Amino acid sequence: MTIDNTSANSTPTADAAGTWRLGDRTVNRIGFGAMRLTGMPWDEKPRDRAAAIAVLRRAIELGVNHIDTAAFYFLPTRSANELICTALQPYPDDLVITTKVGPARSRDGAFEYARPDQLRAQVEENIRQLGLDHLDVVNLRWGAGLDKEPGSLAEHFGALAELREAGLVRHLGVSNIGAEQLIEAMAIAPVVCVQNRYGLTERQDEALAELCAEHGVAFVPFFAVATSVPGATPHGGHDETGRAEVAEVAKAHGATPAQVRLAWTLHRGPHVLAIPGTGDLAHLEENIAAGALRLSDDELTLLDGITTTG
Ligand SMILES: NC(=O)c1ccc[n+]([C@@H]2O[C@H](COP(=O)([O-])OP(=O)(O)OC[C@H]3O[C@@H](n4cnc5c(N)ncnc54)[C@H](OP(=O)(O)O)[C@@H]3O)[C@@H](O)[C@H]2O)c1
Repeated sequence: MTIDNTSANSTPTADAAGTWRLGDRTVNRIGFGAMRLTGMPWDEKPRDRAAAIAVLRRAIELGVNHIDTAAFYFLPTRSANELICTALQPYPDDLVITTKVGPARSRDGAFEYARPDQLRAQVEENIRQLGLDHLDVVNLRWGAGLDKEPGSLAEHFGALAELREAGLVRHLGVSNIGAEQLIEAMAIAPVVCVQNRYGLTERQDEALAELCAEHGVAFVPFFAVATSVPGATPHGGHDETGRAEVAEVAKAHGATPAQVRLAWTLHRGPHVLAIPGTGDLAHLEENIAAGALRLSDDELTLLDGITTTG
């Protein structure tokens, strides 16, 4: 793979794409999403527990200091937060664990959405599961489904702003939202990140990513890889759009398609952070190395030209 800022024989680390600020915390732009550690509800069986712990520890070894998680990432016998706590306590000082509240899942997996007065209990649940005394970053994840939902988030975000004032939460973000909802949230309390579905072939939030850049807010896409992976998303199918272009660029760098997709998102601006999710060690190392992949102007033009759903 063609890399820029690491020596030829070293394994690229999570700082290869630089850093960004989440409030007063600084994180490497390549982070890690914890959702895949347990396996997904539609998988035949949960993922191996020891393997998940090894992935988390390797992520830290390779410089990851931004992990995205949620109390609602669990299967009957596995919880992402518990795995993080078991694998990584005592936490490194520079580690920022971002979690999200709003959706709640019953033991049978069904989603419900929290009332504003229920958010404190969700924050406390994350604090307890992760073994912390406060949370560094909490996203208000809007809507219980995958689709974005309109409407005012003022009451919910206001409730989180109170928890921030009370010291349970250091910084706030919003997730699965539109531009109007970001503007509404920013008027209530500082917003350090926006976490939305976005990637090479799903660019519906291009304007929102720009709005984040204007306000110094981190834009943190989810499903940057997943939409191209068979069986990785709830609807089961996957998106073949842009496959030839991605393969061409990947070949030129001796890289994989997943790396090209991640590198493309990182090239959208210094405020874009990656949180690729995996329960697989080889994929983890690949994803971290993607931060060192530098795409040429011609390659970016080719990839930008892919017809997308957005
Ligand atoms: N705010 C929200 O609403 C929301 C929604 C969804 C997710 N998230 C967060 O965003 C994170 C990222 O989303 P995601 O987990 O769906 O991540 P993703 O990186 O877009 O895709 C993960 C899927 O791609 C596969 N994969 C990962 N790296 C690969 C590689 N190098 N080569 C081939 N396949 C690869 C994974 O399988 P393997 O595990 O086998 O590698 C998994 O099936 C989540 O972990 C979660 O923390 C947030």
